[in-house]
Amino acid sequence: MTDYIQFIEKVKNKTGIDLSLYKEAQMKRRLTSLYEKRGYDNFSDYYTAIHNDAKLLEEFLDRMTINVSEFYRNAQRWEVLEKKIFPKLLNENKKLKIWSAACSTGEEPYSLAMVLSSHVPLKDISILATDLDSGVIERAKVGLYADRSLKEVPRKIVEQYFINEGQHYQVKDSIKQTVQFKQHNLLNDSYGSGFDLIVCRNVMIYFTEEAKDQIYESFSKALRPGGILFVGSTEQIFNPSKYGFESEETFFYRKK
Ligand SMILES: C[S@@+](CC[C@H](N)C(=O)[O-])C[C@H]1O[C@@H](n2cnc3c(N)ncnc32)[C@H](O)[C@@H]1O
Repeated sequence: MTDYIQFIEKVKNKTGIDLSLYKEAQMKRRLTSLYEKRGYDNFSDYYTAIHNDAKLLEEFLDRMTINVSEFYRNAQRWEVLEKKIFPKLLNENKKLKIWSAACSTGEEPYSLAMVLSSHVPLKDISILATDLDSGVIERAKVGLYADRSLKEVPRKIVEQYFINEGQHYQVKDSIKQTVQFKQHNLLNDSYGSGFDLIVCRNVMIYFTEEAKDQIYESFSKALRPGGILFVGSTEQIFNPSKYGFESEETFFYRKK
């Protein structure tokens, strides 16, 4: 068994996270550069270190999860969501059940609330937002962002829903109250059901084909018939009908 394969097994036993479902070359490269930076020579010694040192374990989890995000990421897609997808969904259902899966530091679920607020009063909006990494969830709940993560946000929305604090922007409580954050592992935990909209963007790229297959299958089951899956702008599904989806708009799939 290689050093990396043994590492994967030990990490799975310790944390429940299965690194074998993430693309190997990419993950190995990320983790090798991290352990070298910390002065270790191989995965075996590095495992002993993270096993005994909570801070190193936290740093490892932080590195493997890749948390970059921003508000209105790929802004044109959010316009399609606002102008085409939400009106259709709201026609079918007045109160939407929405899940932002792998939400990172909260930009995505908060963007959803902001966009949906052009159709529905905030008091009627409720969004579930989940991520594997409890650290990012805590940051999401605080809702404080550097100005660069707002570069795609329309001016009107910035004025309406953020409080400027110098180089940082604080999301207003009225938006925060629409989102419930929870820890959830897409590869392990059970999925809910009856969702009108599931947003899962910029995480599938890290998974193996086998893992993606399993996740799309689970998303399909979790959506109501007619519900929509919104994916990232490099994450087109090549065979949507395999999972009971049809293409609705580019990067939006409707469950048949
Ligand atoms: C690059 S961020 C994407 C954030 C946001 N969806 C976006 O598009 O801007 C990827 C997120 O996936 C999360 N993640 C990685 N593996 C996961 C898993 N197995 N289950 C749930 N979330 C996971 C990471 O913690 C990270 O926050």
